Amino acid sequence: MADNPFPGFSTDGIDNRLVNPDVMAQPDDIHDVYRRLRAEDPVHWAEPTGFRPFWAITKHDDIKAIGKANETFTNSQRTYLAPAENEEHMLQMTGDTHLFRTLVDLDDPLHRHIRAVTNEWFKPGSLKKTEDSIREIARDHVERMASLGGECDFVNEVALFYPLRVVMKILGIPPEDELMMLQMTQETFGAADPDVVARSQRITSGGTGTMATSGEQAVDLIALAQSFFEYFGKVIADRKQNPRDDVATVIANAEIEGEPMDLHHQLSYFVIVATAGHDTTSSSTSGGLLQLIRNPEQLQKLKDEPKLMMQAVEEMIRWETPVKHFMRTCQEDFELRGRTIRKGDGVCLFYWSGNRDEDVFEDPYRFDVERRPNQQIAFGFGVHQCLGLHLARLEMRVLFEELVPRLKHIELAGDPAWTRSNFVSGLKRLPIRYEMS
Ligand code: HEM
Repeated sequence: MADNPFPGFSTDGIDNRLVNPDVMAQPDDIHDVYRRLRAEDPVHWAEPTGFRPFWAITKHDDIKAIGKANETFTNSQRTYLAPAENEEHMLQMTGDTHLFRTLVDLDDPLHRHIRAVTNEWFKPGSLKKTEDSIREIARDHVERMASLGGECDFVNEVALFYPLRVVMKILGIPPEDELMMLQMTQETFGAADPDVVARSQRITSGGTGTMATSGEQAVDLIALAQSFFEYFGKVIADRKQNPRDDVATVIANAEIEGEPMDLHHQLSYFVIVATAGHDTTSSSTSGGLLQLIRNPEQLQKLKDEPKLMMQAVEEMIRWETPVKHFMRTCQEDFELRGRTIRKGDGVCLFYWSGNRDEDVFEDPYRFDVERRPNQQIAFGFGVHQCLGLHLARLEMRVLFEELVPRLKHIELAGDPAWTRSNFVSGLKRLPIRYEMS
């Protein structure tokens, strides 16, 4: 087993299990934890070893209620679960609790102004014009899969690169910078998983992929952020001089209330679009394919009725829920299911649990490409609801539209494996054997 990334924390007890990346890497185990909490203590005060305590919110309705109450629950103080020691280290090194100040780390009205900068770009109408080029990228990946002789690791060959290439296209980042982008996005969310870090280093350096994984993280996130900032700083300077029809130009030349947008906010904008736009869609895509393999009758339905694709994609996203949580901090006492959440308390919204809530989803542990209604909350809820949700749906639909009709046969060729991360995670390995037309 890999090193424990959070020394001194045991897997005993529900609170520790809730934040443990090894438990997250075993979906059945973490769903046991979530199921128990939903049934026995849906608004649960959690005190995991090494973490600041927080309220664990596991019911669908409660996640929505808190997401909606953005005046009461702020985003700017504590955005995701990190060991207290890491939070302290960050504060000492950067003077802020956050390395980046992205949309998810800001509150209105600033959040609203900054979000408005690219909002138009990510609307379905605007995305329509990119569908053809996204389809071209999807076809290339399906062709690549077909050329591999009937066996591959779907994560490494398709799911990892496809959304990365799409998000780079939208941002306007040139193809030659792909490996650097891959490293940034992979190591931001996969920092606690030595396999993910090693894979990233192997691909980007062409080397062996081995590296020291001492301390709590296999990656120095502060150094990683510096390289992000250095790179995107150059992109911003370029787009000010040479504007184009891409999101990078929009961010580089944005004004907030009549003033040029602050550089740190611009850089953070690039970081969130690149990172949030990559791993999430990648995980939902590979997780979706795994379910089609495990449920061949569902794959057959999709072959027989291609118009089910949108519903199937929605179900894949519900099933995988790649963003496992986001946090808020309470600004005034708030009553929920007989509990009082006090001013200053951290609140953690466990989206994956909400997406298995028995009170909302009929037979929630069944993967059903025809599920309707499907009120999945993998994109969050309220003013911070995912900016890229239409893009993610479009990308996945297009890929499966290209892939499914060509699959004559598909099966597992080995055990799938999930990333060790309690934040953004999904499959890191999906070995498959297949026959394609
Ligand atoms: C925010 C999920 C794809 C960009 C979020 C949030 C979630 C999420 C849960 C936070 C919501 C909240 O706090 O209430 C997902 C999932 C995806 C996906 C499940 C794929 C299946 C994308 C893509 C992009 C993107 C493709 C970009 C191109 C963003 C941005 C935010 C965000 C910018 C911050 C929004 C804000 O705070 O106003 N996403 N995301 N995401 N996502 Fe996504």
